[in-house]
Amino acid sequence: MGDHHFEEAVEQVRKQTDILEVIGRYVTLKKSGKNYFGLCPFHSEKTPSFSVTPDRQIFHCFGCGQGGDVIKFIMEIEQFTFGEAVRNLAGQIGVTVPNTATNRDDREEEEIHTIRQAMELSAQLYHHLLLHTEHGEPAREYLAKRQITEETIREFQIGFAPRFPQFLLNFLTTRRGYSIPILLKAGLISPSTRSKDQHIDRFRGRLMIPIHDTQGRVIAFGGRLLGEGQPKYLNSPESRLFQKRHHLFNFHRARATMRKQKEAVLFEGFLDVISAWQEGIHHVVATMGTSLSEDHARFMRRNVETAIVCYDGDRAGQDAAEKASQLLHSVDCTVKVAMLPHGIDPDDYLKKHGAATFRGDILAGSLSYYSFRLERLKRNFSLQDETGRLRYLYQAVQMIGEIPLPIERDHYLQKLAEEFHVPLSTLKDQLSRIKGKKQSRNTRDKEKEQWNNGYYVNRKRKHPPLPQKNRVERSEMFLIAYMLRDKGIAEWVKKELGAEFTTDIYAALAAYLFSYYERGYDADPVRFLHYMGESELSSVVSELLTREIPEPVSEKELQEYVANIRRERLVQEILQKEAEVNRLGMIDPLRAAELLQECNELRIRLKNNDFGSF
Ligand code: CTP
Ligand code: MN
Repeated sequence: MGDHHFEEAVEQVRKQTDILEVIGRYVTLKKSGKNYFGLCPFHSEKTPSFSVTPDRQIFHCFGCGQGGDVIKFIMEIEQFTFGEAVRNLAGQIGVTVPNTATNRDDREEEEIHTIRQAMELSAQLYHHLLLHTEHGEPAREYLAKRQITEETIREFQIGFAPRFPQFLLNFLTTRRGYSIPILLKAGLISPSTRSKDQHIDRFRGRLMIPIHDTQGRVIAFGGRLLGEGQPKYLNSPESRLFQKRHHLFNFHRARATMRKQKEAVLFEGFLDVISAWQEGIHHVVATMGTSLSEDHARFMRRNVETAIVCYDGDRAGQDAAEKASQLLHSVDCTVKVAMLPHGIDPDDYLKKHGAATFRGDILAGSLSYYSFRLERLKRNFSLQDETGRLRYLYQAVQMIGEIPLPIERDHYLQKLAEEFHVPLSTLKDQLSRIKGKKQSRNTRDKEKEQWNNGYYVNRKRKHPPLPQKNRVERSEMFLIAYMLRDKGIAEWVKKELGAEFTTDIYAALAAYLFSYYERGYDADPVRFLHYMGESELSSVVSELLTREIPEPVSEKELQEYVANIRRERLVQEILQKEAEVNRLGMIDPLRAAELLQECNELRIRLKNNDFGSF
């Protein structure tokens, strides 16, 4: 019954709330065709790529990919949970949602609330122990040795977990009434190795560094040993509140400075962040025991224009810096890489040389993305001998060829020419030769362009141009777009193709769509967005909904899309088999001959446009 009431409230919110009015309170919107455009509140930008489509009651940002309905918007902008956002919007239209835990969503929210309280309380307790008790003495000494001031200890609410096995456990259960299952879910205690129904504190004898979400709520801890030993850091386990691939240490403190300076410094370690902050460098964040994820990269992009990667000056650090910078570059961040002396980490450097030198020499002297990659490339060649130098030059020019802007390409060619005392014109020649080769390989580009142009119903470009996609990908995209809007088309595609689209995201979306319709729902893209829940895919959906597609679609067109996909599958099958033929050539010639025969048959089918049904 409770379930019913909550779902009803959600329906009412969706029906009675005007997305334009709600978003208009946060973003200045201007009408253009069917859509409204403005500056995206989720990432920093100068030209508006954030759009609201009142007809469909959705928003989508072409810059950062955020998108969804009004509930999703409020969740993102206010950092509310689903239930919190529904309650907030319901309140505005005079609909009440029961406060008691009558359904699963509500019960879960109540549980999360309790977990949050337990985390907060633990942070306070650990902090108090460190500052004011005898137990905290060794931790205070350790921090003093590392030159961390009391002010910083307070700012970061650094704490200490004493060595007793059940210190926190006893405090939170006996004195504060928390249950064992809640503390387990919070990752504050773990089952004892001796007996299953015994529990002990997860953190013992460690310096405790609270980790916060974007709202500044404690969601996890990093625990460092006071001396040597393994593991040096023990972090909270992943939970509904804390995901390493998603959260960045110190973001909630750094956000204001990051946004103002449109720049952030990315470190590897907690202690790097803490010392930089202490030295007055505030736009600093760090990942926690994982490499930078795509999620992190997009998150950075939403908040800054420039990311300075500042990792340890050793081999591992530099390898990680290369990966992180590539990822950030791929989401359109301006990337810089700060170079530290070998074997020195940012914390060491700051302690030794101070903030001014760190800013002036390390941050201001950081390399651009391509300079960094060229430096890295250089290390693979012995530049003493001539062949090594030439090989490097060849590959360096190739790398420079990837750069889209001519002016930037020239800049790097110039630098290379100076460094190696070769005429600039020679390098330019080399570059155009490399580019020439690539072009002739891609004679099908023209065809792609035609596809792109045909896509727009309205030639007045209201949307940023589509990223170039090949014919198959575009067919899959169109099919999904139509399947979202029409249950009949989805059912037909399911019969013809199943969910085996060749592009991973579209295959996943097709599978989601089939299961959505199987549950008896009608075509309702916004409801489908909720059905998918928190998913990387929702951005693809909101983009497909925001873009206009030709409607109605003819059966012939649909069949063409399906044929394109089938053809691609056939091509993939042939390629796979041929690779297998090559592999088996020597090992199992009989089997190889058999496969070759199959390949030939498939090739004939391909030639006759007979893609079969799968
Ligand atoms: N890390 C971890 N688990 C470990 C070691 C490291 O989760 N066993 C993570 C922590 O987030 C740590 C980061 O990797 O902050 C970088 O590791 P490291 O450079 O060793 O730590 P620092 O924070 O620099 O700490 P310290 O200066 O005290 O060595
Ligand atoms: Mn370190």
